[in-house]
Amino acid sequence: MSTSFEHELHRAEALAKEAGALAIEECKNGLSVDPKGVDDLVTNVDIAVEKFLKERLAGEFPDDGLVGEETGSQAGDAPRKWIIDPVDGTLNLAHGVPLTSVSVALEVDGHPVVGVVYHPWMNELFSARRGGGVHANGEAVRVSKRNKLAMSLVAAKPTRPHLAQFSNVARASRDIRRFGTAALELAYVACGRLDGFFEYGLQPWDTAAGQLLVEEAGGTVSNDDGGPFNGEQPCMVASNGILHAALLAELKV
Ligand code: 2AM
Ligand code: CA
Repeated sequence: MSTSFEHELHRAEALAKEAGALAIEECKNGLSVDPKGVDDLVTNVDIAVEKFLKERLAGEFPDDGLVGEETGSQAGDAPRKWIIDPVDGTLNLAHGVPLTSVSVALEVDGHPVVGVVYHPWMNELFSARRGGGVHANGEAVRVSKRNKLAMSLVAAKPTRPHLAQFSNVARASRDIRRFGTAALELAYVACGRLDGFFEYGLQPWDTAAGQLLVEEAGGTVSNDDGGPFNGEQPCMVASNGILHAALLAELKV
């Protein structure tokens, strides 16, 4: 059996594009929002797109586990797991902001080996397989070469217990961006549009594909201590690598 994951990458790319098109079509047919919490929403679009992805992946890779944001885990102890976020940026969707992504990753023994993030509203597909680099709509891309935090654009979210970190980075960088879809922010770090990223309180389906994109594009991903990020820790930090130590220093308060 091939272990290069080329087949899995091609299927994840195709399914993420189909899923993104389905998300737009479902939106046009009407959106109903079911609040899980004040800022934690689920819509008919999230449910329909997750169902589509899980059914297709289960059909094509019947031995693999499946983990999705909306319908939980059917992974058991399978060594290969597909980690899916059908709509990353549900709050944007609920407000009619055309800024969401589909995130599909394949993990083997806990490590992402395939990662795809698709922005259906811009028809941009970011994809990577371990050892194969990153492509954006078929073009090879890399992280930025920016070497001064003061000249850098950093994605971050002002979460309540971590406002000091947010304000440190806002002051030390050129500016902050906040898309509301962490997967797409990580894809933008991978292709050099953003130079850094940090966020607290993410879930594995928000980060699994984006982590591989950043690492394969030559960047660095860690927790806020600078140690390896395993998808479960409270804070994820990503950067072009050059700026990583400077970014971590601003998170120490
Ligand atoms: P979502 O749209 O799939 O929920 C925005 O900062 C990022 O945080 C998005 O990737 C969003 O993913 C995620 N997010 C929003 N609410 C969240 C919650 N309650 N727990 C974890 N992640 C959340
Ligand atoms: Ca989601």
